[in-house]
Amino acid sequence: MKMDPKTIKVAIITASDKGFAGEREDLSGPAIQEMMEEKGFTVTGITLTSDDPDMLKEAMINLADNKGADIILTTGGTGFTSRDNTPDATRAVIDRDAPGFPEAMRAESIRITPRGMLSRGTAGIRGRTLIINLPGSVKAVKECLAVIIDALQHAVEMINDGQNCAERFNG
Ligand code: MTE
Repeated sequence: MKMDPKTIKVAIITASDKGFAGEREDLSGPAIQEMMEEKGFTVTGITLTSDDPDMLKEAMINLADNKGADIILTTGGTGFTSRDNTPDATRAVIDRDAPGFPEAMRAESIRITPRGMLSRGTAGIRGRTLIINLPGSVKAVKECLAVIIDALQHAVEMINDGQNCAERFNG
């Protein structure tokens, strides 16, 4: 089933202790919103959380189970500090992993900077919601989202109609 991107609901979570405390303006969430809207998706909002794993899990569960998000894009908290909890919180709430997204993003990122290896970002599916972690900086967000953005619509279509690519294309 081909979907109109306008019908695909995208929720953004910005994970940042400083952002949540009002000490830093969130520029990465709006950068994601702009890129997704340019592709025609409907962005339902940006949720600001701290780096607390329980707060992150609750936000993801609420957006997936109660708000009907088709895609949740997180930004931030994917590095190696003790407060970088986003990939771990994501793993705790997904039913199935979707390794192609982080694989593709890291492969492209390390062509740009060796620090691309320092994002532990993951991705997976909870119910009918695709959850993908992006790194935190605006630069990294733009570079990483550009790698995966053209696969997102088809990912959501598959999650929703249960048809795999072989059935779809081979008849
Ligand atoms: N990926 C791309 N494409 N470009 C970048 O500049 N920065 C890296 C990495 N991935 C970067 C990138 C850096 S410096 C870090 S520490 C990790 O993402 C984790 O970022 P985060 O802790 O803000 O999530």
